[in-house]
Amino acid sequence: MWPRLAARGSLRGTMCSPQLGSSVGLQAAMDGAPPPTSPTGLSAYVAVSQLLGLTLLATTGAWLGRYRGGVAWHSPLQFNAHPLCMVLGMVFLQGDALLVYRVFRHEAKRSTKTLHALLHGLALVIALVGIIAVFESHRAKGISDMYSLHSWCGMATFVLYLLQWLLGCGFFLFPGASFSLRGWYKPQHIFFGITLFILSITSCLLGITEMLLFKISDSYSHFVPEGILANTLGVLLVAFGLVVGYVLTREEWKRPPLAEELALSMDFKTLTEGESPGGGSQ
Ligand code: HEM
Ligand code: HEM
Repeated sequence: MWPRLAARGSLRGTMCSPQLGSSVGLQAAMDGAPPPTSPTGLSAYVAVSQLLGLTLLATTGAWLGRYRGGVAWHSPLQFNAHPLCMVLGMVFLQGDALLVYRVFRHEAKRSTKTLHALLHGLALVIALVGIIAVFESHRAKGISDMYSLHSWCGMATFVLYLLQWLLGCGFFLFPGASFSLRGWYKPQHIFFGITLFILSITSCLLGITEMLLFKISDSYSHFVPEGILANTLGVLLVAFGLVVGYVLTREEWKRPPLAEELALSMDFKTLTEGESPGGGSQ
């Protein structure tokens, strides 16, 4: 009883119904209190991640545009859509989808979940275009498929990413999944999600190295500008991954549960006398 009262009282009476607008920010505005702010440092790290993300997209574009003839679909340049789509989808958009729970930490869980799922969905579609580009360009040039380490790791990453998306929708968006089932799945979703982000960056690094060895193997060791630019892209990918990883793993930057989520999970606990998953409603 006491914890429930404390939880309800401590968050400035955010016990409005979800239909009336469940974000702390909205409720604070209705109370006349200043809206909640982000913890110090979080905004700076998120800004750095976005700067790095945009720089890595620009670097990919510069590499393909300046040294590889640009990108076009129905032409010998179709292959170039592959690196562009993979960096945009599997790295930049995936990274941003992961940051959603930190950036919109005071918004209602349902909207944040939906944005997380939509960004991952968009990443998947763009990555699929990139995969089609490389398969079609291999077919047009008579090159065999799936022979390299990069293609094995890349395909495994893409298929697992698709599976993770389907499971995420099934467990967290489908209303039929029970509270305890969501609580059981959540830690696995987080572990495999972070693993997939690392695997995506690793696949890109393998792809960059492979492309350099195909295209400039005789001049790479002479520090030619194309090699330096592509190496820089690799370093930017690692830096982006590190900054996103840092933001995700700082305990105090995790999304605080809203008052109604806390109350919901405590009501659930009272009802079942069992453990409810941490972090409020799933
Ligand atoms: C997570 C990101 C990536 C994934 C999932 C991925 C996936 C794949 C797959 C499945 C193939 C095999 C296609 C086939 O056999 O027909 C492939 C080929 C290729 N990819 Fe990627 N790729 C990614 C990123 C990149 C990047 C960033 C580059 C280069 C900058 C790149 C360069 C290549 C090259 C040169 C090939 C053709 C040679 C081969 O089949 O290994 N990839 N990629
Ligand atoms: C391939 C797609 C996906 C990947 C790689 C992924 C990855 C992740 C990761 C790494 C986290 C932990 C983030 C954090 O620490 O805050 C997370 C959390 C979460 N994801 Fe996903 N996710 C994917 C798709 C989905 C989908 C489709 C949904 C459906 C709504 C979903 C719902 C959630 C929820 C509810 C959480 C827990 C947030 C929390 O309570 O802290 N995810 N996801």
